[in-house]
Amino acid sequence: MHERIVILDFGSQYTQLIARRIREAGVYSEIYPCTVEPAEVVALSPKGLILSGGPSSVYDPDAPQLSPSWLSLRRDDGSPMPILGICYGLQAMAHTLGGEVARADRREFGRAHLVVDDDADLLAGVPSGSTVWMSHGDHLTRLPEGYRVIAHTDNAPIAAVKALHRPHFGVQFHPEVVHTEHGRTILQNFAYRVCGCAGDWSAASFIEEKTREIRAQAGDEHVILGLSGGVDSSVAAVLLHRAVGDRLTCIFVNNGVLRKGEWEQVQDTFRDHFRIRLKAVDAAGLFLDRLAGVADPERKRKIIGNTFIEVFERATEEIVAELGRKPKYLAQGTLYPDVIESVSFKGPSATIKTHHNVGGLPEKMDFEILEPFRELFKDEVREIGRLLGVPETIIGRHPFPGPGLAIRVLGPVTREALALLREADAIFIDELKSHGLYDDVWQAFAVLLPVQSVGVMGDARTYENVCALRAVTSVDGMTADWAPLPYDFLAHVSNRIVNEVRGINRVVYDISSKPPATIEWE
Ligand code: XMP
Repeated sequence: MHERIVILDFGSQYTQLIARRIREAGVYSEIYPCTVEPAEVVALSPKGLILSGGPSSVYDPDAPQLSPSWLSLRRDDGSPMPILGICYGLQAMAHTLGGEVARADRREFGRAHLVVDDDADLLAGVPSGSTVWMSHGDHLTRLPEGYRVIAHTDNAPIAAVKALHRPHFGVQFHPEVVHTEHGRTILQNFAYRVCGCAGDWSAASFIEEKTREIRAQAGDEHVILGLSGGVDSSVAAVLLHRAVGDRLTCIFVNNGVLRKGEWEQVQDTFRDHFRIRLKAVDAAGLFLDRLAGVADPERKRKIIGNTFIEVFERATEEIVAELGRKPKYLAQGTLYPDVIESVSFKGPSATIKTHHNVGGLPEKMDFEILEPFRELFKDEVREIGRLLGVPETIIGRHPFPGPGLAIRVLGPVTREALALLREADAIFIDELKSHGLYDDVWQAFAVLLPVQSVGVMGDARTYENVCALRAVTSVDGMTADWAPLPYDFLAHVSNRIVNEVRGINRVVYDISSKPPATIEWE
């Protein structure tokens, strides 16, 4: 079992970042809601505990409090449990111990310069004067007994503290965000110097262990996986193939709304290059017939979702017939953020995406579920994919929605409209890549508008379609900014589309951010 550091989530928007930074430091970390029972956490044998920030004030009537039992926890070896409180985590700790937290009239938000008063442990290697990121309402005004200040700023006489007789620390600022210059060092110091971790978490070790674990779990049973060609399912396919070889069968469905060349590329990569058993099902006709005349985006999604399940079920039956037995496992590329989303302190958030590509499959088909990436962040899946030799074109791919181009042909989807959109989209993406801009944006695509406009080509009047280009920067798709692509680049792309795609005579660029717009147009 890995060394691990447990993070108690008090509702901070940065909680996931804490976990990522600790893992980047080479120590496995997991997030639990602050309402979890201490005994449950102790059972995980953590090396240390981090209390996250949070939006509350300790004086709010329904503020999450820290029960004193957390502060006297012991590790498996009997030593006191190291604890680092961050922002609200520090205030909750101090409040519980009889320190004083002052109610703030307004938030302190932004950069401050840290003066280090004691660099013995938590702040070792952190230069005095370096920048830290503050984002808090209340702050600590009197230390609990047995604690002392190890750093201050102009505004905050108590910016970092430690306990004299136990391995408890607290910081008022946020070491997990990039604006805190030496935040990584601070979290590393906590993991290594304070908790005594040796650092046994890496992508390479994950691959070895997961491979062994899947082998042990799957035994000689068969596994199926819905492959979309996106990062998560692709890396899952290669990892599972490494573990169970030909006992993995991937199902790849042509739903008629894939991008240009995608149907062929996925088959080339997985069947021909990786030699993975691939069942490629061309159901384009079925999907497009059912989509005919449908303009409402949610109905498009429903039709595609339901048809996918139906096609997938049929493909599974064929696999059962071919193998002469039923695969026991269905693998899915679920990631850690989906898992925490459903257990986090705030409870299932309203922003959970309704768009789950294979939603409903497992219940209907009575499979056991394999989720090899359940504890991973996307960046970790990418790193694992690289180590497994998954091509960079897949690893660095922009997200692509399950309903595909159906929600990018606005209004009813026709084969003709899809053909135009595919060409325009391919030009946009090719040009982004050849200008070195593809990796600078989070997602980019073309949208075919249900609008015709007048144009002139040579001496003739044209009356053709309008295409919109959309490119956004984002961290997680929840919020996004339109990407300020250079004018000459946009001019070049527009020129190519209008010249090369017969049927499109006008190109516009979408300059709306999310919110209030969404990334997709439908
Ligand atoms: P929106 O348009 O909601 O998109 O700002 C946020 C992210 O989700 C993707 N998206 C979907 N993904 N099925 C999916 O698998 C869907 O129905 C769906 N709708 C939007 C979108 O491409 C963006 O990355």
